[in-house]
Amino acid sequence: MKALVLAGGTGSRLRPITHTAAKQLVPVANKPVLFYGIESIVEAGITDIGVVVGDTAAEIRAALGDGSRFGARVTYLPQERPLGLAHAVSVARDWLGEDDFVMYLGDNFIVGGITAFVEGFRAQRPDAGLLLTKVDDPRAFGVAELGPDGDVVRLEEKPSAPRSDLALVGVYFFTSAVHAAVAALTPSARGELEITDAIQGLIDAGRTIRATTITGYWKDTGNAHDMLEVNRSVLEGLERCVEGEVDDTSKIIGRVRIERGARIERSRIVGPAVIGAGTVVRDSRIGPSTSVAEDCTITGSEVESSIILRGAGIDRAGRIEDSLIGRSVQVTGVAEAPRGHRLVLGDHSRIHIAA
Ligand code: DAU
Repeated sequence: MKALVLAGGTGSRLRPITHTAAKQLVPVANKPVLFYGIESIVEAGITDIGVVVGDTAAEIRAALGDGSRFGARVTYLPQERPLGLAHAVSVARDWLGEDDFVMYLGDNFIVGGITAFVEGFRAQRPDAGLLLTKVDDPRAFGVAELGPDGDVVRLEEKPSAPRSDLALVGVYFFTSAVHAAVAALTPSARGELEITDAIQGLIDAGRTIRATTITGYWKDTGNAHDMLEVNRSVLEGLERCVEGEVDDTSKIIGRVRIERGARIERSRIVGPAVIGAGTVVRDSRIGPSTSVAEDCTITGSEVESSIILRGAGIDRAGRIEDSLIGRSVQVTGVAEAPRGHRLVLGDHSRIHIAA
């Protein structure tokens, strides 16, 4: 069995972060979200992994390499443009051959991994194995309608009037029967070749489809709010580990990881929280539920429930919460009340300021 990991796409809902970085590489507890997916695939015993890449190919390649650090063999499959999930399958057609495969969307996060689902698929070998979960707003997802006996009777991609609250989770299992269904597709109203339409084709052709409804924790990390929630949840499992320097006047409370080369001065770090290597925290209060990446400087500020990416600087900025701050961003407070806010923000930035 092979794994097909989708790490192309545009990441439009995570702009401006994704103007300069792949959305699958945004870190959760200082580790790219994509790594959690690759690790869960390897944990399930699948080591032959094809990674579909688009505009951010160089960055994804630099992060994953040949896969050996994960105990896997990674093959890169360039997709010219993000023309849809089923298009990505067609790009991988030759590499997949006649093998069964799990398709894993690189921005999805499943707590507890996928081993049980891989085993279930291997044992029963339906032509498509789907994972479903109840969501509050199904309009943002592929939606499944089940018949009276629990079989999937219909799938719709991002319907305006959903027929159920069961969303498709971004992990799918297929036999090679999917390729004929993909080859028969035409672009949807949004111009993509939809994997939901390919699975509908399998249903219409009388193929066996098995759907498992999961109740565990799942997130599509496509937007900042979900990213922060995944970060919060992953940090819950953190173990205390202080390898950086902490001065006598600082307090480290609870499950906090302070990486080697980080320095904490006159500050309070409340777990769960991670402080990355080379980061300096002075006269500040960090946490809980906060991940600060490598080489950041935080001075005279409070940061809670946030993700701060590499090289960012936060200086006398008051209190920052529920925020996703990009690489090398500078946030600076001023001593006296300014007559106006001075801002240099990337395209599609979102800020909330006290008016
Ligand atoms: O997260 C679950 C949802 O994922 C499902 O409920 C939907 O049915 C499914 O269509 C998908 O919806 P999204 O709108 O979240 O898909 P997105 O465009 O974000 O793409 C998912 C991943 O696949 C992401 O890591 C980017 C990558 N991708 C996407 C496209 C369209 C590619 O590599 N190539 C592509 O052409």
